[in-house]
Order: sequence, then structure tokens, then C-alpha cells
Amino acid sequence: MDLSGSSALVTGGAGGFGAATTRRLVAAGAKVVIADLAEDKGKALADELGDAATFVPTDVTSDDSVDEAIAIAAGLAPLRTTVIVHGGPAAARRMVNRKGEAYPAEVFARTVDIFLTGTYRVMSKAAAAMTRNEPLEDNQRGVVISTASIAGFEGQVGQSDYSAAKGGVIGLTLTAARDLAPTGVRVMCIAPGTFFTPAYKMSEEDAQAKWGPGVPNPKRMGHADEYARLAQHIAENDYLNGTVIRIDGALRFNI
Ligand SMILES: NC(=O)c1ccc[n+]([C@@H]2O[C@H](COP(=O)([O-])OP(=O)(O)OC[C@H]3O[C@@H](n4cnc5c(N)ncnc54)[C@H](O)[C@@H]3O)[C@@H](O)[C@H]2O)c1
Repeated sequence: MDLSGSSALVTGGAGGFGAATTRRLVAAGAKVVIADLAEDKGKALADELGDAATFVPTDVTSDDSVDEAIAIAAGLAPLRTTVIVHGGPAAARRMVNRKGEAYPAEVFARTVDIFLTGTYRVMSKAAAAMTRNEPLEDNQRGVVISTASIAGFEGQVGQSDYSAAKGGVIGLTLTAARDLAPTGVRVMCIAPGTFFTPAYKMSEEDAQAKWGPGVPNPKRMGHADEYARLAQHIAENDYLNGTVIRIDGALRFNI
């Protein structure tokens, strides 16, 4: 799919992966809606990129908010690419703590709401909007790319909520691709390992020292642009559909 003359929506578009993806999609010729909660970062990025990018304050847990962001994107040009890469809180607590107390189901559900239900909300609504696009070659109308994590495969100690939500995002991928096949909308998922982004609330040097040595090869955390290059490739390559691509330098989370 040629992205020039189309629009794209990036949830979490002001974040580490999101901003790198926004830049790549703009460079490939798309008009991008930065759909993020973070007003300051979102506006600053949109100002920097000029006419090619629009910041729309968006909360992926709200139907109305997501509807508005999609309508704005589809009003710029046919919406053909959606990258779901928003963040959110995740516990750093074991299911049962040292005092013998269970981690509250309400907190678990909130994490699932943002990462999994939020992904479903954006994916389903974006795909619905894409059905109104004129078909391209091979009946293609667009692509939705979600973001899981290698924690969705291997789990992560102290992150039952996050691992379960990301496992759900992985499980959604093939079903969504099959459901949407008659509409010409593809669905793909990226499962990153450890990448330095603002989500790590420390300097890049400290993060690399802590996380880099555990990665087999290359022996470092990933760069956000490595995620963004993969997202762009998925958008442009029509034969990628219904699967999850790990991008992790061969890292596997072990206990
Ligand atoms: N960085 C990593 O190592 C890594 C690894 C695996 C998976 N991931 C996943 O990649 C995604 C992005 O991570 P990142 O490292 O770029 O994080 P980040 O913190 O740099 O960016 C996340 C962005 O999401 C926005 N956001 C948070 N809640 C939102 C909501 N309800 N609606 C809309 N936007 C919201 C934030 O404002 C922020 O700009 C997350 O889903 C994360 O789980 C990251």
C-alpha cells in the first residue's frame, strides 16, 4: 500500500514509539492524527511536523473520544493506516504480596481496559471507517497494527495485568484479520522486547546499563525508530496479515 495521499491514526502518537511512527508515516506521505492524552507533547510534535500532522486529544477508553479522532483522520484523507501504540499504567506487584494480600481485580481490570479493550475499541472503529474507503489493488482498504509485548508470550513477574492484557492483544490478531478479510482491512501486531522510550522514567544511559546486557544480540535496548520502521513496512506490505512479529533482539523474559 502506498501511504501518500492517505491518512493515518496513531494512538499514543506523542509517546516514544508513537512519535517515531508518526515521523515515519509523515515521511512516507501520510497525513497523521496524533491521538494521545498528552496535550503538551502532542501539540509540540504536531507543530514541528506542520500540515502533515494534527494533534487530537484522545482517550482510548472513551468511545466518543476515539470516534472523534477517527472522524478527523478520515476527514483529512482516506484513513488507511491505524497504529495502536498507546501506553498506560501496569502494576509492578505480584498477584499476592508479602502480607498475603491479593492484587485487586479492579486494578487488573483497569489495565485490561486501557491495553486490551482500548485496542479493540480503536481497531474495530478504525476498521469500520476503512470499509468506506475506495478499494486499492487486490481489494485492499487499509491496515490496523496493534502493539503487544513479549510479556504477552512469556509473562513478566509482577505484571499479571499487563501480561494478560498483552496476551489478549496477541490473541485478537488472527481473529480480527479473519473477521475483517471480506472488507479488505489487514490486521497485524508488533510484540516489542525492551526499547528505550519515555516509559522508562530514567536516563537512557541508566536504562541501557540495566536492560541492555540481557538482550542477546544486539546487546542493547531497541530504538523507537526500529519499531517505527517495522510499522511502516507492515503498512506498505499487503501480504503481511493476521500475525504477530516479535522485535526483540532474541530476548526472552525469564524468571
Ligand atoms: N518501550 C518498551 O520497551 C515497550 C515494550 C513492549 C511493549 N511496549 C508497548 O508499546 C506501547 C507504547 O509504549 P512506549 O514505550 O512508547 O510508551 P510511552 O510512555 O513513551 O508512550 C505512551 C503514550 O500513550 C499515551 N497514553 C496513555 N494512556 C492513553 C490513553 N488512555 N489514550 C490515549 N493515549 C494514551 C501517553 O500519553 C504516551 O504519550 C505500549 O502499549 C507499551 O506497552 C513498549
